Amino acid sequence: MNKKARKTLCLLLALVMLCTFAAGCSKKSEEPEQDTEVAYTIDNIREYVIGVDEPVELNDGTMQPLINFDNAATTPALKPVMDAVDEEMRMYGSIGRGFSQKSNHSTDLYLETRETVLNFVGADPNDYTCFYVNNTTDGLNKLASALIESEDDLVLCTRIEHHANDLSWRERCQVIYAEVDEQGRIIYEDIERLLTEYEGRVKYVCVTAASNVTGYVTDVHRVAKMAHAHGARMVVDGAQIVAHRQFSMKGDTPEEDIDFFVFSAHKMYSPYGSGAVIGPWEVLVKHMPEFYGGGIVKLVTDYDVKYKSAPDVYEAGSPNYPGIVGMAKAMEVLQEVGFDAISEHEKILNRRLIDGLRQIDGIILYGDCDNIDDRVGVVTFNFEDINSYILAARLTDTGGVATRRGAFCAHPYVWRMMGISDEQAATYENCIDMNTPGMIRVSFGIYNTEEEVDRFLEILNNVVNAMRSTENFNLGAEPEF
Ligand code: ALA
Repeated sequence: MNKKARKTLCLLLALVMLCTFAAGCSKKSEEPEQDTEVAYTIDNIREYVIGVDEPVELNDGTMQPLINFDNAATTPALKPVMDAVDEEMRMYGSIGRGFSQKSNHSTDLYLETRETVLNFVGADPNDYTCFYVNNTTDGLNKLASALIESEDDLVLCTRIEHHANDLSWRERCQVIYAEVDEQGRIIYEDIERLLTEYEGRVKYVCVTAASNVTGYVTDVHRVAKMAHAHGARMVVDGAQIVAHRQFSMKGDTPEEDIDFFVFSAHKMYSPYGSGAVIGPWEVLVKHMPEFYGGGIVKLVTDYDVKYKSAPDVYEAGSPNYPGIVGMAKAMEVLQEVGFDAISEHEKILNRRLIDGLRQIDGIILYGDCDNIDDRVGVVTFNFEDINSYILAARLTDTGGVATRRGAFCAHPYVWRMMGISDEQAATYENCIDMNTPGMIRVSFGIYNTEEEVDRFLEILNNVVNAMRSTENFNLGAEPEF
């Protein structure tokens, strides 16, 4: 080959390489960004929270992003969760009922996700299964409906419980309650006392893993050990723990294992109306909830029905596929962010908020505000002279802050914390919200910042000062209107 031919060949080769490289680049830019490339951390997760910078309108007409301190009620969506749901919609088909590639794909993913859920709480699939529900309330009701066999059955709850983990049982059987102490923590000795007093009669001990009022984390494995020693099974309301702390069904010993765990996905950044109940195969296969329809039967004849077994028999009707896809993705992201980092972050926010609140005259703080290690990111408060309903409304209208105000679907606990007797509480039945006592609650998500806490304290100070100086009412917990 002569020199000119070699030069031409080299040029051709270079051109081919250039074209190949360019084709590669353009292909890459056409492909959607794979979220597996993103490492989610406590420091960057805010970038992936939908709507965090969305402005809302204040009373004076100005627009500003909401400070969302109402995460115990519900959490905003995560972008990777929404992306996962959108992606799966391309291959969405009927679950467990259809004949198509899409139906097969959706059914497979639906079934596989049960393992994701079990793994998330360290439940061995040989021992446990899970069924999907709409939320924690739905799950606890379905579980109670399945487990309670007679209105004489006896269940032990505590006075810290959300109504979902109280009324689900109270309306179906006999319930006894362990008390809380002056700081609002569960009195474990009272659980032991009741189990001993009603020896062998208590079938289920039902306790929250974390309070939606004070954020206290329950030592559920300690309670499980007591329950099992007295022949009871242990049910845990996991609504307020799943996005805050690593939860494990496994205790240090088998006696400390949790039997049932119930939670919602909308409190863990997947707002598609799903949740799950986890429980032992050996118990769930013996029961079914009073909830009937398609998908749960083997055969129906004119006068007979043969039902499937767990978990299918707990899932009448077509399931909520987006909810289940979103829930699985949310679990993956939370695990990647890491529960140690989440817990540490919440502690910093709690400390900063509590210290700031303590600087304001007339503040009433609920729960133990010195030792906060056993509290998730929830702080509740009041002012001696200010109506909490009006204050919460002002925080929203003039400050663009979302809090929750009231008794948080945990009335008996809130009355105790506020020093209100049961007799007094009974008189509130016909009160309008504004006249019913309540607290203001700040509850943090993984994306909230110390700057937001500082801004909130500034807004709160301004609102309190404005109310005290310009408004002509001295508003205690029960103002007259
Ligand atoms: N249980 C939820 C809350 O505490 C709705 O706000």
